[in-house]
Amino acid sequence: MIFVTGGAGFIGSNFVLEWLARTDEPIANLDKLTYAGNLQSLASAANDPRHVFVKGDIGDAELVGRLLATYRPRAVINFAAESHVDRSIHGPEEFIQTNIVGTFRLLEALRDYYRPLPDAEKSAFRFLHVSTDEVYGSLERGDAPFREDNPYQPNSPYSATKAASDHLVRAYHHTYGLPVLTTNCSNNYGPYHFPEKLIPLCIHNALAGKPLPIYGDGEQIRDWLYVQDHCSAIRRVLEAGQIGECYNIGGWNELTNLTVVNTVCSILDDLKPRDDGLSYASQLTFVEDRLGHDRRYAIDATKLSADLGWRPSETFDTGIRKTIQWNLDNLDWVKNVTSGAYQHWVDKQYGTS
Ligand SMILES: NC(=O)c1ccc[n+]([C@@H]2O[C@H](COP(=O)([O-])OP(=O)(O)OC[C@H]3O[C@@H](n4cnc5c(N)ncnc54)[C@H](O)[C@@H]3O)[C@@H](O)[C@H]2O)c1
Repeated sequence: MIFVTGGAGFIGSNFVLEWLARTDEPIANLDKLTYAGNLQSLASAANDPRHVFVKGDIGDAELVGRLLATYRPRAVINFAAESHVDRSIHGPEEFIQTNIVGTFRLLEALRDYYRPLPDAEKSAFRFLHVSTDEVYGSLERGDAPFREDNPYQPNSPYSATKAASDHLVRAYHHTYGLPVLTTNCSNNYGPYHFPEKLIPLCIHNALAGKPLPIYGDGEQIRDWLYVQDHCSAIRRVLEAGQIGECYNIGGWNELTNLTVVNTVCSILDDLKPRDDGLSYASQLTFVEDRLGHDRRYAIDATKLSADLGWRPSETFDTGIRKTIQWNLDNLDWVKNVTSGAYQHWVDKQYGTS
């Protein structure tokens, strides 16, 4: 079987659901269920015997060691992290604990698990660490997109802690021979996205008649990737990636935040027009910029496409339409998340608290 951490979060839950849809191989899922973990996203897998959910912390080395010994996975994929830049600015401590200390403890547990494995299991085993393009810092317009050999220049507590975790993963390969793979991906969007991030926040605020907040001038550029394309890239790297290598994952979709929000508004105008006939764009409100806001991220994913033959399936236009339609079709999920009711639902459904 395979073992994932953080599989109740945005990307992890998409990965788990797709894994179950595509293969018969069981999947164990360790998640602490922070505010960002939502078992309701995994409701369709709740009664699937191939999915084993365990509530717990990647920093709990004893628990992780026990789970590895019990399930004997052929691969571990680490999605677990504190992931929201704004939260890292207001309170970096949790980011240090999970992204750095947690990754370190997970690596220690993996080292203990890996060392005595029989040769055949050893040569098949992989640890894939899911990371971000934010570790490379910020680009100016006209700069070449980030490649895997760009120096790390993280600018926020979030990206600094992810950078530290990437370095630890690299060191555990070079020092202890742990068979690791690292992926650095651009901004994701898609189903089950927690509505604190730009795209789901815009969709939900637009529908609720609330302001659509734009940081600064809205000219910050991000490279957007549909979450299921991120999952397909991770599957491909797991299957064929070179041990010890890093792979950038990107969507070749560089857009300013303002363009993203205007696109969301015009699709919503089409799919669910406002009663008064005005565009949702009339709700746009410019707010003070985020501290230290990076201007531009752009990913060069040539290595992944040239070496492993991966390409995204969605363009931004197709992916964003699917995302908005998913939100319109899943208003209950959205309502439960925004009201906090998802935490009660999880307790009731799984008795996890
Ligand atoms: N969202 C993006 O655009 C993006 C882009 C590139 C890379 N990433 C990376 O992908 C990974 C997943 O991101 P996401 O957007 O799904 O994040 P998320 O915040 O939606 O989910 C994180 C999950 O990890 C769990 N978690 C947090 N701390 C934990 C701990 N100590 N032990 C066990 N579980 C814990 C949470 O409960 C949650 O379910 C992260 O490592 C992030 O850095 C995200």
